[in-house]
Amino acid sequence: MPHPTLVTGGTGTLGRHVVTRLRAAAQDVHVLSRRPAPPTPGPTWHTGDLRRGTGLRDALNGAGTVVHCATAMRGDIEAAQRLIAAARRAGAPHLVYISIVGVDVVPFSYYRSKLQVERLVEASGLPWTILRTTQFHNLVASAADALSKAPPLMAVPAGTRFQPIEVEEVADRLAELALAGKPAERVPDMGGPEVLTTREIAERYLRATGRRRKVVEVPLPGAAARGFRAGGHLTPGNAAGRRTFEEFLARGKQPHV
Ligand SMILES: NC(=O)c1ccc[n+]([C@@H]2O[C@H](COP(=O)([O-])OP(=O)(O)OC[C@H]3O[C@@H](n4cnc5c(N)ncnc54)[C@H](OP(=O)(O)O)[C@@H]3O)[C@@H](O)[C@H]2O)c1
Repeated sequence: MPHPTLVTGGTGTLGRHVVTRLRAAAQDVHVLSRRPAPPTPGPTWHTGDLRRGTGLRDALNGAGTVVHCATAMRGDIEAAQRLIAAARRAGAPHLVYISIVGVDVVPFSYYRSKLQVERLVEASGLPWTILRTTQFHNLVASAADALSKAPPLMAVPAGTRFQPIEVEEVADRLAELALAGKPAERVPDMGGPEVLTTREIAERYLRATGRRRKVVEVPLPGAAARGFRAGGHLTPGNAAGRRTFEEFLARGKQPHV
């Protein structure tokens, strides 16, 4: 009987697609979530909280692989520490972690915590794999949605570009890494198919949603904004994604908020 695979954040934007793929590959998939189990049939459910350290022993029992997709704006370092400690006690499964391109160069607080989690994973003593990707289409669309709420203007950060990627393609790759059954450590970064300016993103979003706004570029102050302007979060040499932002919008997906 193969060892179960635990997906933390298996209810999230990325994690739920990873769960679908692992189940399609006939894996024994377990999910850790703070929520109670849904009434519908699905993966084996463990209600628990990474930050509080609850439910981890049961969730990790017998696991051969852990795909760590859970995240929050705060507390990810503590959550990773608890996950790693519990995984070490549970027999040292392969830990697959999803990170973000440029967490080591863009001085944004969430990115700093992702970098620290990467370091915890690398030093965990567990077999590990880390994949960094660029921003998911949903996140970029969600930001465009928020910025275009109040007519007549849509203000976007000046001099900034993004390389959005389809979350389902990221899930394909993450599931592939989990199913490989052996640690690959840091794998090549994965970016979306095209690098777009914030103006291009805004124009595509407005066209797709039928909103009429005048796009204005506003220079943002601060080190994080400077880091994004410098493009440390882009990886044009690893543009492995296929579905473009425009194609994502044409499919009528609602932004993830
Ligand atoms: N979004 C992007 O553009 C992007 C780009 C590159 C990499 N990533 C990375 O991909 C990963 C997944 O991102 P996402 O956008 O899919 O996130 P998301 O949709 O916000 O989902 C977050 C997940 O984390 C779980 N979670 C949060 N706090 C938890 C806790 N204390 N204990 C247990 N579970 C907890 C939530 O589960 P419950 O609410 O069910 O408990 C939820 O399933 C993150 O590591 C993120 O940094 C994201």
